[in-house]
Amino acid sequence: MTDTGTATLKVARYRPEKSTKPYYQEYKAAYRKDTVVLDALNQIKAEVDGTLAYRWSCRMGVCGSCGANINGTPRLTCATFLHEFKGRTITVEPLAHFPIIKDLVVNMDDFMEKLVRIKPWIIRDKEAPPEEGEYKQTSEQVDKYSQFSSCINCMLCYSACPVYGLNEEFLGPAATALAYRYIMDSRDQGKQARFPIIHELEGVWECTLVGECSVVCPKGVDPMLAIQKTKILGATEAGKSLVKPISGLRAILLPQGGS
Ligand code: FES
Repeated sequence: MTDTGTATLKVARYRPEKSTKPYYQEYKAAYRKDTVVLDALNQIKAEVDGTLAYRWSCRMGVCGSCGANINGTPRLTCATFLHEFKGRTITVEPLAHFPIIKDLVVNMDDFMEKLVRIKPWIIRDKEAPPEEGEYKQTSEQVDKYSQFSSCINCMLCYSACPVYGLNEEFLGPAATALAYRYIMDSRDQGKQARFPIIHELEGVWECTLVGECSVVCPKGVDPMLAIQKTKILGATEAGKSLVKPISGLRAILLPQGGS
């Protein structure tokens, strides 16, 4: 069986300057074993139809900008090989659940705002430099957050999430995974700043455990796990606040020296 041939791509088009109605357009693209969907789109744009709009940058699964729905599944176009679909039409559509600007280009403002809200950076109470010039971490401390730091903000997880599809206020998978990544970082002291955001009405408690976010992540991040762990952290903190008055009561009921 050969991995070369000609593929048919059925690409969703939306050109608001020409028509308010979206439509599909079919293109043919030659492929080899190593040709990815992004290569085919570039081939089409260069040789057949320069009006086709889509995003990409790194072509190596790092920048997170080339996401699209490919035969119904959110994937990176630069990491999806044409030979996988041998003999089948490849339907390429914009990521679901985001407003479409043009063709495969979606408006990502909502995700960007959520990303900023969870403060994806190390927060310190006081910026006193450590005595030896750097904050040291053990391997065990790094293990607590490292998989969640692989997120490339590609938004495939939002496109796969039915809860986000129904309620765009939902904080969602990637933003929560990144919040959890910083909360679990031993150098960070920003838990109290992030907690109100991730535990608000549209925060982690909206998640219904579908888990598609973790299935489609191209970097092996498990946002569903981060969401569930964040729920546990929140429940533990709430439990502690309930225990405090009881401690106070103990102090009253059991005066000094009592047991
Ligand atoms: Fe950068 Fe695909 S082009 S992730």
